[in-house]
Amino acid sequence: MTMASQTFSSGLHGVCIAGMGGSAIAGQMAKTLLAQKAQVPLITWRDYNLPRCVTKDWAVISVSYSGNTEETLSGFETAKKVGSTLFVVTTGGAILEQSKDLPVALLPKGIQPRAALPAIFSIVLPIVEALIGVGSTDFSELSVTLEGVVKRWGDEIMSPRDLAERISSFVPLFLGSGHLISVAYRAKCQINENAKAVAFSAELPEANHNEVEASHMYQKYGIVPIFLRSTHESKRMSARFEATDAVYRQSDCAPVHIRLNGLSELEETLAITHYLDMLSVDAADIRGVDSVRVDKIAELKRRLTEGS
Ligand code: PA5
Repeated sequence: MTMASQTFSSGLHGVCIAGMGGSAIAGQMAKTLLAQKAQVPLITWRDYNLPRCVTKDWAVISVSYSGNTEETLSGFETAKKVGSTLFVVTTGGAILEQSKDLPVALLPKGIQPRAALPAIFSIVLPIVEALIGVGSTDFSELSVTLEGVVKRWGDEIMSPRDLAERISSFVPLFLGSGHLISVAYRAKCQINENAKAVAFSAELPEANHNEVEASHMYQKYGIVPIFLRSTHESKRMSARFEATDAVYRQSDCAPVHIRLNGLSELEETLAITHYLDMLSVDAADIRGVDSVRVDKIAELKRRLTEGS
C-alpha cells in the first residue's frame, strides 16, 4: 500500500504537517493550496511538541530531511504519544530509526533540504489530497507545463538573472496573497540561505494594516518590494496591489511585479517558486557566496546538540 492510498474520508479531524526550514515549506504550500477545499483543518507546525488540538483522530506528516531536527522529532514523539496517524518523510536519522511499522517516504540523499522541495512536495501533496479526499495531482502533466514556463523567462518576465542584477544592492521584500503567501516566504528564506543576504516577506491584505506605514523608510534602507501577482486574484485583491503600489511610489519606491499568465494556482505556486529560487542562486553568484553551504545553521545545531 502506498502512503497516499491510506485515506480517511471520514473520522479524520485534521491534518498537521510538521517540519522546520527547508523541510517545512512544502507543507505550507500544500496547506495554502488545499485549505479551502478541505472539510477539516489543515495546519502547519514549526515548533516543539504539537498543538493540543492534535489528537488520535488527526493525521500528522512529520518532515525532516536529515531526520535529526529536534523540533520535528519532538512533534513526531508527541504524535506517537497521542496516537495520531503518522506519516514520515525523511532521508534517515533518528526519525527513521523510530519509525518502525510507520509509513515512511525516503527522500534522495546528498542535497540540501531546501533543494529537496520538489521531492518533498510531490510526496506531501498527494498524502494530503488523499487524506482530505480531493482528486490527486498529475505530476507528469505538471512537469511538462512547468518546463514550458521556463522558456517564457526573459520574454514575458525579465530573467531571474536580470532581476538579481537589478536588485543586487537592495533588500527584497516579497509580497504575496493567497496561495502565493507561501511562495513569498520561500523566496525570503532562499535569499537568506542561498545568497546569505537579508530579505523579508509579507502578505496581503495583512501588510496593508501595518507594513505600509513603514514604506517611507524603504528607500533609506534600500528595500525593493517584489509583488507576487496571481492571475487568480480577486478584483478586490488586484485593487489592493495597485493601491499598495501607488502608496509605495509616493515614497519614490517602485515595486517590481512578477506575474505569469495562463497557469492554475498550483502551477503558479511552483512556477514562481522556481523563478525565485533561480533568482536566489543568481543573487548568490553575484555576491560571490556559496549557495549550498549553510554554516551558521549547522553551527547553531552543533551548539544546541553539544549543550544538551
Ligand atoms: O535549509 C536548511 O538547511 C534548513 O532550513 C533545514 O531544512 C532545517 O534546519 C531543518 O532541518 P531538516 O530539513 O534536516 O529537518
